[in-house]
Amino acid sequence: MSEQKRGMHGIWGGRWTFILAATGSAVGLGNLWKFPYITGENGGGAFVLVYLACILLAGIPVMLAEVLLGRKERMSPINTMAAMTDETGAPKFFRGIGWMGALSGFFILSFYSVIAGWALLYVGKIASGAFTGIDADGSGAAFGAMLADPVGLTIWHTVFMVLTGAVIARGVNKGLEATLNVLMPILFVLMLILFGYSLTTPGFMQGFHFLFDFDFSKLSTESIVVALGHSFFTLSLGMGAIMAYGAYMPSKQSLGKTILWVGLLDTLVALVAGMIIFAIVFSNGLEPSSGPGLMFISLPIAFGSMPGGVFFGTVFFILVSIAAWSSAISIAEPAVAWAVEKGGSRIVSTVAIFAVAWFIGLGSVLSFNDWAGYQAFVFISEMDLVSGVEEKVHTAFHLFANVNLLQAEYVNTAAVSYHIEGKTFFDSLDFLTSNIMLPLGGLLIAIFVGWFMSSDMIKQEMKMKNEAMFTIWRFVLRYISPVAIALIFINSSGLLKY
Ligand code: PHE
Ligand code: NA
Repeated sequence: MSEQKRGMHGIWGGRWTFILAATGSAVGLGNLWKFPYITGENGGGAFVLVYLACILLAGIPVMLAEVLLGRKERMSPINTMAAMTDETGAPKFFRGIGWMGALSGFFILSFYSVIAGWALLYVGKIASGAFTGIDADGSGAAFGAMLADPVGLTIWHTVFMVLTGAVIARGVNKGLEATLNVLMPILFVLMLILFGYSLTTPGFMQGFHFLFDFDFSKLSTESIVVALGHSFFTLSLGMGAIMAYGAYMPSKQSLGKTILWVGLLDTLVALVAGMIIFAIVFSNGLEPSSGPGLMFISLPIAFGSMPGGVFFGTVFFILVSIAAWSSAISIAEPAVAWAVEKGGSRIVSTVAIFAVAWFIGLGSVLSFNDWAGYQAFVFISEMDLVSGVEEKVHTAFHLFANVNLLQAEYVNTAAVSYHIEGKTFFDSLDFLTSNIMLPLGGLLIAIFVGWFMSSDMIKQEMKMKNEAMFTIWRFVLRYISPVAIALIFINSSGLLKY
């Protein structure tokens, strides 16, 4: 029965299409929006270094493993993992890689679409000239006003879901291949223009030092988990997206170099985005740690003051939307492909899956306004204002709490000040997927390919010509990646004890 499923979704048209599609999947909001703001929140340089180490020692080896699995079986990740566990005789729970991946896909798509909706909304705002001559305060206020309006956010979230669903429903290659061929190069060119602009700002060197000076005193256990999680998120790993794209790859193509290209391009885009955004942040007295709004507050200031800013700004946010769009397609593909293999039509499967993800997304929309007070994992820390010592109050941990009520309960006095910190619905989904589900998926993939696939079986599929590279890769996949991921997990479980 599985023979009919193999290859039923199609094969990429050209030699380069896999690189294009995988880069389209990898380069997205993760690079332009998320990387700069989490780098800002985690203190800069040391975080970037740990992130690069994670890309090299876990991300790239796991990417190769994931693509290999997909191409070998040519089915959705759920059926690919089912077939692979049977063929290798590995324990049945490795099938869970496929199922957990599909679940991660729903969660990620749900909030990814909300943020992409912000980008769509900003296209119109910039085009209308609303940001011309704007300063940091004005830009912050405009961002805040957008977040305060759940109806507006829902409309753009819906538009993005419909756009993404429309492409998926038509099947993978045709529309996407042609579009990406044109758009990805434009994205790179526009980033270069912005990069050139950022070089002229007074804060460029300060931003550069912030990104590349390693101050390890700022690095917490939590930062390391975030760096690991983001290395999976940014390369679209650990949930089956890249496995699904691998299933559409022609079997003659060799995998090693292809994957290196994707990893390199993704990393380059993230670092350049970081340099641009921090140059603007430091030139305008913004806080690097201002969170999810960082890109949306800083870039409009640059576009508002540079010649031709309305034009470049409009085009740039269109491209952010497109980068998000080409990634979102790959987030949904594993679940849709599975439903199609189950016998559903492509259209019905797409509508059903997008409806569910859209609905979950409403929780993220509300996280920024009406539900902002309802938070999970709430820690309350107490600062002794006389000695200046801050400590977490262990007895005051709440799994779920209304932060506004807590704030009334813990009233700051002249001698003590309370700091209340928790995760909104959006923060919780982001945390759960990036910091737990994707690394766990990656860990299982590394163990599965490293330990349960024989070297002959891998070589036959991989067609790698360079024996030394193969040996290094397999060693890293068997020993380094799983141990690194597991250690980071074990270390971070201490966080939950607060
Ligand atoms: N890699 C994408 C980005 O950086 C996000 C993504 C995550 C895509 C998981 C597919 C799967 O924006
Ligand atoms: Na990315």
